Amino acid sequence: MSKIFVIKKKIKNFEKKIKVSGDKSLSIRWVLLASIADGKSRSFNLLNSEDVKASIDAVKKLGIKVKLQKNFCEVFGKGLDGYNYKNNIVINAKNSGTLGRLICGLLVNTKTKIKIIGDKSLSRRDFKRVSDPLQKFGVKFLLTKNKNLPLNIVGNKKLRPIKYYEKRGSAQVKSSIILAGLRTEGTTLIKAKKSRNHTELLCKYLKLPITVSRKKSFDIIKVKKAKKIKPFNYHVPSDISSAAFFIVLTCLKDNSSIRIKNVNINPSRIGLIIILKKMGANISFKNKKLYKGEFVADIFVKSTKKLKPINCPVRLNSSSIDEFLLIFLVAAKAKGVSFFKNLGELNQKESPRLKWGSKILNLMGIKTVCTDNSIKIFGNDKITINKKIIIKDYLKDHRIFMSSVIAALSFGGEWHIHDKNSINTSFPSFLKILKNLQK
Ligand code: S3P
Repeated sequence: MSKIFVIKKKIKNFEKKIKVSGDKSLSIRWVLLASIADGKSRSFNLLNSEDVKASIDAVKKLGIKVKLQKNFCEVFGKGLDGYNYKNNIVINAKNSGTLGRLICGLLVNTKTKIKIIGDKSLSRRDFKRVSDPLQKFGVKFLLTKNKNLPLNIVGNKKLRPIKYYEKRGSAQVKSSIILAGLRTEGTTLIKAKKSRNHTELLCKYLKLPITVSRKKSFDIIKVKKAKKIKPFNYHVPSDISSAAFFIVLTCLKDNSSIRIKNVNINPSRIGLIIILKKMGANISFKNKKLYKGEFVADIFVKSTKKLKPINCPVRLNSSSIDEFLLIFLVAAKAKGVSFFKNLGELNQKESPRLKWGSKILNLMGIKTVCTDNSIKIFGNDKITINKKIIIKDYLKDHRIFMSSVIAALSFGGEWHIHDKNSINTSFPSFLKILKNLQK
């Protein structure tokens, strides 16, 4: 049943310190890498969401024991060749592109056929982008309509290293090739358009045979076969993509401030902050630290008096790829025209997010000109909404639900936002944290 969340009032001013949940990308990577480590790894602050639970269920299907406790999670890895490839394994990646794509890279050595399925949203997404490079290693794929889930994968005992140019800037594709490279004799070489680099940083922290040389707009990554992965404990930093909802809420609100503790501020993830600062936002990092290869800090945000429109540089697209629905809301309140281009990838996410971003703004009374890969937003610094807005049939995309909530609380109107449970994908405590802002 689709639960409808109704909002009729703007949020009151706030001055708060909050903590958001663990980073989704890092949580999924920890589960997967711990599952092929030699022994017991433990994590703290692992994101407790559907995407991460699906990752835990996936490694369990492969014979790995996992203990999920209230305050920590333990994965009992059985080494690089420790998966138990039984007949007829079906892995359900549910809504998670990251799990569905990264796990393909780990399954390249399966002797039996493994089926990967997903929910309605994941089943419309492109898996050819991972099967294309992985097939070059010698792996066999059978995809639905040549591109989608359900897919079947049969690995190869004699994997061949590959050379691959990853042009989309997809961290999921890059990571699945890295994971396959760790299972393959010889040197796998990836030229990759810049994207989030958590997999590389974790591999380096684990002293795995990977090197990265940074060029201007791409990285050259070399991966060799790993011999052994030591189990590792990890305290997952908070997710900047979850913090983003509160950062933007504060920017759009008068006389408010927020401090968000211990957030991952990896340079490949902070496009939102750079874009908002260019638009006039008041954001700073405090207590910056390096934790196991990742930068973390408290993020401090104060209300912005005057928001400026932006002609957004495309080099910032990848580092803010999950935050554009929110950035569009800020552009809606900036006086003047903002322009975002080369954003076709947004329509490849859990829902066609570029189209939805435009649709939500139009429902709010903001004019847009939207193409397949760009959007022009005609902002209005006096925006207030007095009508009823219904958000539904958006493939239960968690970020559409949460961004709509932020729009409702910032601009007013009466919003009926369907599929409240979608938050469980990435940020189950979202509404609870919002409620606490009002106390
Ligand atoms: C992710 C990579 C990005 C991002 C997704 C998480 C990851 O997807 O949108 O939410 O953890 O590697 P792409 O690799 O498709 O750009």
